[in-house]
Amino acid sequence: MDEAERTWRTEFPITERLNYLNNCSLTPLHRRGRERVDRFLAEWSEQGGRAWYDHWIGEYEALREDLAGVLGASAGEIAIEPNVSAGLVGIASTFDYAKRPKVVVSDLDFPTDGHAFLAVADRGAQVEFVRSPDHVRVPLELFERVVDERTSAVCTGHVYFTTGWIQDVRALAQICHRKGAVLIVDAYQSIGALPFDVSASGVDYLVGGTLKWLMGGPGIAFLYARGAVAERARPSAVGWWGVQDPFAFDVEHLEYGSGARRFEYGTPAVAAIYAARAGIDLLGEIGIERVRERHKLLSQRLVDGALDQGWTVRCPRDPEERTPIVTLEHPDPSSVVASLRAAGVICDHRPGLIRLSPHYFNTLEEMDQALALLEPLRAAHAVA
Ligand SMILES: Cc1ncc(COP(=O)(O)O)c(C=O)c1O
Repeated sequence: MDEAERTWRTEFPITERLNYLNNCSLTPLHRRGRERVDRFLAEWSEQGGRAWYDHWIGEYEALREDLAGVLGASAGEIAIEPNVSAGLVGIASTFDYAKRPKVVVSDLDFPTDGHAFLAVADRGAQVEFVRSPDHVRVPLELFERVVDERTSAVCTGHVYFTTGWIQDVRALAQICHRKGAVLIVDAYQSIGALPFDVSASGVDYLVGGTLKWLMGGPGIAFLYARGAVAERARPSAVGWWGVQDPFAFDVEHLEYGSGARRFEYGTPAVAAIYAARAGIDLLGEIGIERVRERHKLLSQRLVDGALDQGWTVRCPRDPEERTPIVTLEHPDPSSVVASLRAAGVICDHRPGLIRLSPHYFNTLEEMDQALALLEPLRAAHAVA
């Protein structure tokens, strides 16, 4: 670790006690996040409702600007959401399924990417799943084969949550647009882990949140809607914060807010805004290129070590093809995760998989410690 990396590591008190390798689920709280949330508590305590006007509405709009900066979008293309699921429900409510019933999702996608559309089957939506041949990647040809003039949308991940594989969403946008379909990207696992410019990508909608690589904790997500797409959208899932003038308190008329704002719902969780902005600040200071390089270094140590030990590694072996999500196959992954936890190494499991995800504050020594603990656990299984 160089001097700067050591400094950033001290931002995360958890590193004093634990080897934390579960960042693709939730990055732990950093000192500046805690200071900002303390500031929110002081404002709430000292000002009550007045704090909306003196601080919180300003923080909300500043968060919108921050998110636009991270994505390479304009602020008008960003809606602030409580979670990705809410954003997808809003998007799913905009399509005319009588004209174009088909929605394409992959079997590697996060459940909510399919559920948001399965839930509108009574409005005519028919979800078609493309199936990953190697359970790691979803080749573009599979989408190309099924996207047609009856397709409203493709909704899929930028990075798949069990394999870390990076989808070429720019090429996928072209496939969709050739048939007049919309591309919705679930970028929860990519934003903050990869340099990405949403405007250049051509995607129509993109959803993500601050829990993971943006280091901003739970309670804040975002929805990007490309300018022209947002202006055309007529969501039936709405809230009073998403209208043109919420403070007119007009119950009798619905006038959508301009741009992506129409996808917003109601009163936001303000403490979460403070934590989210702190995480985005931190990322801005480190720099996304630098984060990406360190992710590659740390995750490759895990991949190489696991292969040497004889594990079946599910994620791609080439670091250019994936984020730092490293998954190892095991028939009883929760028992492995529990053993690691007992030794102070925090990771997670998904069906049939142990999932480890280092972040830039981790060290190579921590990767080696995790590997040393993993080795006998694989052998125990192989003997049994
Ligand atoms: C790819 C992906 N999409 C969505 C989610 C969750 O979305 P939500 O904000 O609705 O909890 C996660 C993880 O929690 C995820 O990994």
